[in-house]
Amino acid sequence: MPGYDVREKVFFITGGASGIGRGLAEGVLANHGKVFFVDLQEELGREAHTELAASYGAHNIRFAVADVTNRDSIQEVFNMAVATFGRVDVMVNNAGIVRESQPDKVIAVNLLGVIQGTEIAMAHMRKDKGGNGGRVVNISSLYGLLESPYFPVYSATKQGIRAYTRSLSLSPKLDEIGMEFATLHPDSVDTAIMRFPNVQPGDVLYLDDLLKQFKGKVQYLP
Ligand SMILES: NC(=O)c1ccc[n+]([C@@H]2O[C@H](COP(=O)([O-])OP(=O)(O)OC[C@H]3O[C@@H](n4cnc5c(N)ncnc54)[C@H](O)[C@@H]3O)[C@@H](O)[C@H]2O)c1
Repeated sequence: MPGYDVREKVFFITGGASGIGRGLAEGVLANHGKVFFVDLQEELGREAHTELAASYGAHNIRFAVADVTNRDSIQEVFNMAVATFGRVDVMVNNAGIVRESQPDKVIAVNLLGVIQGTEIAMAHMRKDKGGNGGRVVNISSLYGLLESPYFPVYSATKQGIRAYTRSLSLSPKLDEIGMEFATLHPDSVDTAIMRFPNVQPGDVLYLDDLLKQFKGKVQYLP
């Protein structure tokens, strides 16, 4: 989103307690935007909230515990964000996991969670339904563009995010809806997503080969 001025804009970020989501939250706050973030991890979320509120002002940030796989729960906290800040301008569907041993869980979090989050945001933002317009940013991965022998299920969900989001951006009624859609495709970032206990044996395929290939770019600490 080149040139997008985030001042006074309200961002709703899923999976904001750590890693990329937390970094995005801090970037928004540092540029004078407002953030409502949710995460499954209550303690980590509260810590992040306390630190960010101390640096950027408690009135600019709120945190709530919610699971992106639970549509009602995400709708409830999204409503809280609207009640707190008056509206949401940008929805960032960031929460994600790597867990090849549980394909259903990976699909539920990485793909269905993103689709549900997008639908909830669109219902609020659509200009043709009385909203103010807005933006949805869905966090995919480099493996949303490439295939990987190490994370076939993860890669399928991230390519699904790309296909879903791109399809929405091709809507013939985009101007009427007043929304923009984007995906981000980060390469390896050193976060908790690839660290024990988030990743257990079997959650990444051919682990030895992966560690050799990435030579320290990926930390797997069993
Ligand atoms: N780190 C990387 O190398 C990398 C590269 C490309 C894409 N990504 C993507 O970036 C996003 C953020 O990952 P990260 O690297 O910051 O990892 P992370 O583990 O630091 O952060 C992910 C956050 O999502 C939360 N989360 C997981 N499941 C959830 C659920 N069901 N409901 C709510 N919150 C949930 C976790 O508690 C965690 O705080 C993910 O979608 C990931 O696939 C990461």
